[in-house]
Amino acid sequence: MFKRLIAKNFRKPSGLFGHYIIRFLKKNQIEYDEMESLLKLNKHDIVLEIGYGLGKGIYDYSKKYDCTFHGIDFSRLMYSKALKLNHENVNSGKIILLCADFDHYRFENDSFHCIYFLNVIYFWSEIQIRLKKILSMLKQNGKVIIFMADAECFKDIKQSEGETIFYRHSIGDVAKEMEKTGFKTIETIEHTKEKKCYYVIGYKQ
Ligand SMILES: C[S@@+](CC[C@H](N)C(=O)[O-])C[C@H]1O[C@@H](n2cnc3c(N)ncnc32)[C@H](O)[C@@H]1O
Repeated sequence: MFKRLIAKNFRKPSGLFGHYIIRFLKKNQIEYDEMESLLKLNKHDIVLEIGYGLGKGIYDYSKKYDCTFHGIDFSRLMYSKALKLNHENVNSGKIILLCADFDHYRFENDSFHCIYFLNVIYFWSEIQIRLKKILSMLKQNGKVIIFMADAECFKDIKQSEGETIFYRHSIGDVAKEMEKTGFKTIETIEHTKEKKCYYVIGYKQ
């Protein structure tokens, strides 16, 4: 019951429990910092983060790069936190934050140079449908970067009963699905400190 509540709130933070989850999300700053050099952003790039959580990644990157940052997250709690943090750049139009479900939101094809997401893939049962959508949304030579912990990291955690909320994916399976979807030059880079946690990069050609 308790585990289920935690899993549900990692998927979509809300209410009191959502506030409790925030302290764990703050620990993901290191992954956002490490991802920065992998993004290799160019001036005027159009960037999207799926599941921006507290919005700190978008906040940090928008301070450093002359790009437009879009974000989509379906948690109203995360949206309000991210909006508060980023209000200046939201007002200026440099940041566009959506509170919506990525699965249902219709994005234009060929609109982003870069799409990234951290700790979101665990809530996707069917990876390929989402990867196809991401590929269609990317411009030619655009890239996706996924940060995730390999299934091995969760091998000792028992699944809670009922409908699955949290899906364990191996890094190999994700890379294979990316290849099948049509991503090219797939690279996996290990986290500098956390074993079996990876940044997976793929390109649209
Ligand atoms: C575990 S949190 C990770 C937050 C942040 N990326 C980080 O690593 O700190 C997952 C986030 O993804 C969002 N999310 C999950 N599935 C989503 C979906 N289908 N559409 C939009 N947002 C989603 C949740 O609301 C939550 O903020």
